[in-house]
Amino acid sequence: MSNIIRVKVIFVCLGNICRSPMAEGIFQNIVEKEGLSEYFLVNSAGTSRYHIGEVPDERALKTCSEKDIILNHLGQEFITEDLSEWDYILAMDQNNLHNIRMLENGAKKPLRSQVFLMRDFDLQHKGADVPDPYYGGMNGFYEVFDMLERSSYELLRYIRSMHSF
Ligand code: 4NP
Repeated sequence: MSNIIRVKVIFVCLGNICRSPMAEGIFQNIVEKEGLSEYFLVNSAGTSRYHIGEVPDERALKTCSEKDIILNHLGQEFITEDLSEWDYILAMDQNNLHNIRMLENGAKKPLRSQVFLMRDFDLQHKGADVPDPYYGGMNGFYEVFDMLERSSYELLRYIRSMHSF
């Protein structure tokens, strides 16, 4: 292991069993394909406590495994300390962003993170929500996958430009 300082990226949704673990897996996969793993630490979390310790939703697992992306994640809660832990926080929708801002208001330490909406990096629909697919069918998951993949490529391009690698 080299002593490169890693860029820390965390994806945040509500339950941490659908969108954000998919985003984590997709982004990590792109990073690996581009030979950049040593520069990154990638994770995900949810603003609720509904699914702590749970594996991702089976529809999220299926959608990703069809693209050879294996999700190894257990649900965890996004907490105030994460604001001083991660460099880039990517909220899936406005509701998640609001919850993160509420935590920011209560934070005592200076913040390390830059907070974005994931689809700030979707050139096809900048700033839109990644819709919650939980109460729908498989199609919603496939659509979410495409949004996350498009946004991940652009997010990586942005981060690389900020850190010169
Ligand atoms: P996620 O989807 O935020 O993309 O993980 C959800 C999963 C579970 C629930 C809501 C959204 N839930 O209410 O249990």
